[in-house]
Amino acid sequence: MYRTILPLFALLFGALFAYGQDKPSIKQVPPKASDPTSGMAMFNSYCSACHGKDGKGGGPAAAALKKGPSDLTILARRNGGKFPTLAVQNAIAGEAGGTVAHGSKEMPVWGDVFRSMTANDSITKMRMHNLVKYVESIQVK
Ligand code: HEC
Repeated sequence: MYRTILPLFALLFGALFAYGQDKPSIKQVPPKASDPTSGMAMFNSYCSACHGKDGKGGGPAAAALKKGPSDLTILARRNGGKFPTLAVQNAIAGEAGGTVAHGSKEMPVWGDVFRSMTANDSITKMRMHNLVKYVESIQVK
């Protein structure tokens, strides 16, 4: 019993800097399922290419995007000092109610990607939960 794989949601893990070209292009590779219990491991595998290892938005793939990836360390500061858990979760999952308009994003819809990795809903929820917690942990004061 296979769930539909979503080949179109192949991820953007790394930037390929083609020689002789000024603009880096993004190489899409299928997502590897990384440890769902480690927010940091998932962040490094799935998010740092765009948002940077430090979450500040300067990952190697950022230059190939039309819109710069958000600085993920100032989400609480931007929200009056309170980390906007639900909005962050929705932004990552790609669900309505996220901080960015649905459909106009360059960021992969991670909810679909994570669901394509396993038929087990609780693992998908665990991934989302630990990722959001990790993003919360990198907030600057
Ligand atoms: C292909 C590049 C790319 C990858 C990979 C990526 N993002 Fe993003 N992300 C963006 C861009 C660009 C935006 C700015 C909003 C938009 O999509 O227009 C963004 C916005 C966000 C936001 C909304 C922040 C705000 O300003 O309110 C969150 C939260 C976020 N990303 C978290 C993540 C997490 C967590 C991961 C890894 C699971 C991830 N992103 C992977 C490109 C990326």
